Amino acid sequence: MTRRVLERPCTLAMLIGFQFAFMVYFSFGGLRSLSFIFGRFAEPSFDYSRTQDVYSNLSLVNSMGGPRFEDDILLPRCPERSPYLVGPISVTFTQNPTLKKVQDKNPLVTRGGEYKPPNCEARHRTAIIIPHRNRETHLRHLLYYLHPFLQRQQLHYRIYIINQAGNATFNRAKLLNVGVKEALRDEEWDCLFLHDVDLIPENDYNLYVCDPWNPKHASVAMNKFSYSLPYPQYFGGVSALTPDQYMKMNGFPNEYWGWGGEDDDIATRVRLAGMKITRPSVSVGHYKMVKHKVDQGNEENPHRFDLLIRTQRMWKADGMNSLTYTLLERALEPLYTNVTVDVGEDPRAKKPLRNRGPTPPAIRRYVNVTSNPPIDSQIKKPNDNPTNDSAINGAELFAEGIKGPAVAPAPVVAEKVPLPGANDPDRAIGQEQQIREVRSAQDEKGKEAKAEVQKVQAQGAQSSPPV
Ligand SMILES: *[C@@H]1O[C@H](CO)[C@@H](O)[C@H](O)[C@H]1NC(C)=O
Ligand SMILES: *[C@@H]1O[C@H](CO)[C@@H](O)[C@H](O)[C@H]1NC(C)=O
Ligand SMILES: *[C@@H]1O[C@H](CO)[C@@H](O)[C@H](O)[C@H]1NC(C)=O
Ligand SMILES: *[C@@H]1O[C@H](CO)[C@@H](O)[C@H](O)[C@H]1NC(C)=O
Ligand SMILES: *[C@@H]1O[C@H](CO)[C@@H](O)[C@H](O)[C@H]1NC(C)=O
Repeated sequence: MTRRVLERPCTLAMLIGFQFAFMVYFSFGGLRSLSFIFGRFAEPSFDYSRTQDVYSNLSLVNSMGGPRFEDDILLPRCPERSPYLVGPISVTFTQNPTLKKVQDKNPLVTRGGEYKPPNCEARHRTAIIIPHRNRETHLRHLLYYLHPFLQRQQLHYRIYIINQAGNATFNRAKLLNVGVKEALRDEEWDCLFLHDVDLIPENDYNLYVCDPWNPKHASVAMNKFSYSLPYPQYFGGVSALTPDQYMKMNGFPNEYWGWGGEDDDIATRVRLAGMKITRPSVSVGHYKMVKHKVDQGNEENPHRFDLLIRTQRMWKADGMNSLTYTLLERALEPLYTNVTVDVGEDPRAKKPLRNRGPTPPAIRRYVNVTSNPPIDSQIKKPNDNPTNDSAINGAELFAEGIKGPAVAPAPVVAEKVPLPGANDPDRAIGQEQQIREVRSAQDEKGKEAKAEVQKVQAQGAQSSPPV
């Protein structure tokens, strides 16, 4: 009976049909569960050709969800993830918004540039700290985008502008130290966002909250660097630390005057303090830079490489624990707190110009490359001219104030600089080389290295016995 049924062609067809249906069902279920598993690890991807206006539906974000009471006890906590995020944001600099316009578009921002979500209690308290001088146009662009950007993330935040008074060389890192100190006076911020004035975030999934374990570098993809990290240790632009992390690395160095180098010092400090740099994914950490020329009073720091050498020895002595400044004014503007400070001036700036540069190519003399291989296998062996001891020593001693305001580096200084890798041989030196590699604009060294390799290969070919 059964056999006869099975032998019928239509029954067979039915069985095969069922089998096929089950296969389809499971494969789709399987696919779904697979994509579920992998989706959690996959990078989020965003379509930057479809951007939103950062102000779209901002009134919705700020609609009052009922009466707001004196203390926020009656407010529910904000959701884990804000429902108002839109992803890529259109950023243009064609129109130059006035402060009044920005103010009108952000009615819930209170004096001093502070904001709390009106309908829930924020989970995060973030202070934005922006070193500044004579960049009013950039500042307006930044405020125009940053206020709604942060409101979409349902943060309790406040924006601090740290304004360097006077005409002395700009000192970004020291201003950030000042900003941290001044901001923590107002409130127990749980996150410090250290922000360049000319960088506008382009994706509101780039949350302005801290990583609880490690310092975060947020500006991982800037248009200036064709939306990728310029080099692995890069820590400039926008970074975020909890106050604990900041203090653990003794803040930032106070001795970097002018453009360049301080961010590399900071990256080194992160490591020396036993932490790592975390980063959002490249597709999230998009920033657009407001174009500008190098400003007066913010020239490239000609001593940046000398100073990097001393990080290893100096980070515990130069930072938050040695910070001195004069607070000149603290003004609560409608969109920001303007902290004006006198941070002093570069002791070396008084030297006659001909004695200031050029920067010695640094460290070769002190590095035994073979015994201190760089961590990163990509790093090539430095291949440049040996460094002149006296130049480095002069700068070094000068930076530490041992010699006082010297007019010019003495031709020969007896004291030797200790090996920069003395305490942590592998790492600090690897970075020095790396930075130098990346920063050297020309590829001359690369060519030299290549020629060297070819030479060695040629020799090898000669010495090998003919087959
Ligand atoms: C703005 O809100 C409206 C109404 O809630 C909604 O239909 C629209 O999609 C929202 N737009 C954006 C960009 O979120
Ligand atoms: C800064 O420079 C400007 C012009 O270059 C000058 O008028 C002003 O007095 C200087 N300020 C200080 C504090 O030196
Ligand atoms: C901050 O205050 C100082 C001193 O009053 C002023 O010179 C400067 O223009 C102000 N900066 C901003 C961005 O408001
Ligand atoms: C560098 O260190 C290695 C291993 O310690 C040693 O063999 C070599 O002679 C050193 N080179 C120089 C130039 O000191
Ligand atoms: C090092 O610099 C000093 C003074 O700057 C100079 O006299 C000396 O010749 C230099 N030595 C080398 C090896 O370049």
